[in-house]
Amino acid sequence: MNDVIDLININRDRYVDELKSYLAIPSISALPEHAEDVRACAEWTAAEMQRVGLENVRVIDTPGNPVVYADWLHADGAPTILFYGHYDVQPVDPLELWESPPFEATVREGEIYARGAADDKGQVFMHLKAVEAVLRGNGRLPVNIRFILEGEEEIGSVNLENFVREHKDELAADVVVISDSPMFDRGVPSICYGLRGLTYLQIDLRGTASDLHSGSFGGAVANPAFVLAQVLAQMKDRGGRVKIPGFYDDVRPLLDAERAEFARLPFNERRYRNELGAPKLFGERGYTTLERLWGRPTFEVNGMLSGFTGDGAKTVIPAVAMAKVSMRLVPDQDPDRIADLCEAHLRKVTPPTVELNIKRMHGGRPWMTDFDNPFVQAAGRAIELGFGRRPVFNREGGSIPVVATFQEVLGLPSVLFGVGLPDENAHAPNEKLDLGNFHNGIIASAALYNEIGTL
Ligand code: BES
Ligand code: ZN
Repeated sequence: MNDVIDLININRDRYVDELKSYLAIPSISALPEHAEDVRACAEWTAAEMQRVGLENVRVIDTPGNPVVYADWLHADGAPTILFYGHYDVQPVDPLELWESPPFEATVREGEIYARGAADDKGQVFMHLKAVEAVLRGNGRLPVNIRFILEGEEEIGSVNLENFVREHKDELAADVVVISDSPMFDRGVPSICYGLRGLTYLQIDLRGTASDLHSGSFGGAVANPAFVLAQVLAQMKDRGGRVKIPGFYDDVRPLLDAERAEFARLPFNERRYRNELGAPKLFGERGYTTLERLWGRPTFEVNGMLSGFTGDGAKTVIPAVAMAKVSMRLVPDQDPDRIADLCEAHLRKVTPPTVELNIKRMHGGRPWMTDFDNPFVQAAGRAIELGFGRRPVFNREGGSIPVVATFQEVLGLPSVLFGVGLPDENAHAPNEKLDLGNFHNGIIASAALYNEIGTL
């Protein structure tokens, strides 16, 4: 292992240069005009897999963006790791808030800034470099390993569930390893044992056939912007509780023991609030911030659009109003059932003065696992070697839809070993990855192969 670590240390700068090339590809899955970049990124990923010494590299078409597959399966009798990650990234708007261009990776004070640096190309690349270092150092890996990297995670992994069902045999493994989440805090590495799920809807209201003069017509018709505000106001009460009937029916209550574990984590609420720039935190009454984030579901408005929003004033009644809303879910809520309940409630509270249209977008099931399995313990030792500190166990508020699929379809446990940081601006301007964590993550990943190989 020491030789491998030496090799990783010697190649530190090269890794960063190569990562910059990866981050230069604008693989934004949400925007159709980037479809070619997404494909180019899949090809780049495949070429890199080949370069690091993986075999059977394939760019596999799906009805959407390709899945990139590669493996190394020569460790007879040893366990097989299925590594999952994604090479697609989020859009970059608002562009003017980036301090350096999102697709020209720039290093400042030990952090690399670019879209995808943390979520998820940097973390994927870390595992590829670990494979490279171990293969170059030892000529072989102590485990079998398969990689599947998808290009649609940021748009809900819409084709991946089918892909996993159709390629069950090629994905045979003992454990899934994923690095697509933040660690608990700077200097506090963590293993994540739970993720929230998601249900996403678009609400369209139409009041009239066209925008109207607000003097000639104001008072005679309903204003859809106003109706939208009234409708949304009925989705959550002032105590932060979602008002959709049945919404909490399947929520698995937080256990006292788990709440006590959360309370032991080094979480400073005041610092958290300051870093977010929030005048005051807000969430469901009766729960702490970490409990709200990790163990409780929520309803959020992701965006609203209606009427005149330019400079100056325009006296108008908008014809339409639109909102994008989503709910983060916890075990054992089912995204489809929650979408049904939400839709029924929306229909009930929307007055007949407007036409209501609801469009269902993507979703994903929540996930939670026991963390006393030997793979999690092995990851714990590997992380300790890479980061010089034992990881804490946490849950996360974000979603990775395929994790539940791996459990249900392949029957596999997942180990979520993220090396991002909570303040790394994923999905926001100035996304970054700490290069120290990137580097330690390569060592931890290489150590993980040893730890799992000797199980
Ligand atoms: N890397 C995130 C998932 C994540 C975020 C895990 C924070 C843990 C903490 C992932 O790329 C992501 O953003 N997922 C989407 C999924 C959605 C589009 C179905 C999310 O959570 O919004
Ligand atoms: Zn991600």
